[in-house]
Amino acid sequence: MYLTASEEEILAGEQGYVLQKAMEILAALGDIYGADRLIPVKSTQIAGVSYKTIGDAGLEWISDLSGVARVPSILNPAGIDRLRWRELGVSEEFAAKQGQIIDAYEKLGIIAECTCTPYNIRDDIAEIGDHLAWSESSAVSYANSVIGARTNREGGPSALAAALIGKTPNYGYHLDENRIPSLAIRVEGELSGSDYGALGYIAGRIAGTRVPVFSLESVPTDDERKALGAAMAASGAVALYYIDGLPPYPAGGECDTSDIDERVVIEQSEIEGVYGLHRCDPDIIALGCPHCSAAELAKLRDLLAGKTVTKEFWICTSRRLRNRHPDIVAGIESSGAKVVCDTCMVVSPVCARYDCMMVNSGKALLYVPQLCGTDAVLGRLEDCVRAAVGGG
Ligand code: F3S
Repeated sequence: MYLTASEEEILAGEQGYVLQKAMEILAALGDIYGADRLIPVKSTQIAGVSYKTIGDAGLEWISDLSGVARVPSILNPAGIDRLRWRELGVSEEFAAKQGQIIDAYEKLGIIAECTCTPYNIRDDIAEIGDHLAWSESSAVSYANSVIGARTNREGGPSALAAALIGKTPNYGYHLDENRIPSLAIRVEGELSGSDYGALGYIAGRIAGTRVPVFSLESVPTDDERKALGAAMAASGAVALYYIDGLPPYPAGGECDTSDIDERVVIEQSEIEGVYGLHRCDPDIIALGCPHCSAAELAKLRDLLAGKTVTKEFWICTSRRLRNRHPDIVAGIESSGAKVVCDTCMVVSPVCARYDCMMVNSGKALLYVPQLCGTDAVLGRLEDCVRAAVGGG
């Protein structure tokens, strides 16, 4: 990969050891994937935050780094709600280690907003055509597929390297030729809400690493597109998808079907089947995978009005949105539900204490059993609320 004179200087260590190591990571990635050069990024989003996933080795690595992020850079969810961790049952030791990890990132100029939906807290970090270096797979899918920005799915270290250098290698989803759909998926029947997560659960397995284009009978909201992309990134490795008739489109205009090499149909009965894949009696209901938007919080407030929850009920979102909408949060929490920030039902260590979690997310349906060892059952939003208030 070609490096400019100033990039060569960094690689030679003339701007210090940490930047040298960051440049080594980017140069190695560029060489492996055949990038021609480094390109500037508008923002980065960095995974590898929860102490549950990175442990002491990760804490030590981050603590040894120095430097300052050159572009807005936001963290993925941590293992704790930074203000309410005691109330949620997190141990002192875990909270202390988690605090050290977040502090270490903050020292590098990383914004300590721990969210998988950074696009919901700042409009200026990703716009159509922008190059990014984001890690969280659901955020990568949203950036590529809904915003029309361009990012590969970065690992935590490569996203951090991009933050410190302000650039990323030009390969993969940064290039037009890798953003062309090759799989057409026609979905029969009208979908809404968690149906999109169920669709993603099925479609990701079919698509694998390919770029699918969906033909849908209903028009999804941005939150529904978020749920579809998150589930496909979890059940497969889909980082970019299109919906026929909805922007953003591949470079050159509306979806060109000449590169489609497979066409599949997903019937509504298959989507319905995902709701029945697992059955258990939930002792916790957890929503917000990916983190809830303001619209999703408002809908929950309305559904919970006048009700009292009888089970543990988590609604995960970003701290910025919680702070921005105190009335909505107060309305939700008057039911006894908890609006949980900075963390989620998968990366929190607390979730392993429960036997069965009800979720409305195709991604959580996959990850809760894998990463928490807890059974998971998929429900529609209204079913989740009914279960939380003791209505079965
Ligand atoms: Fe976000 Fe946690 Fe789901 S990071 S996408 S809420 S698994």
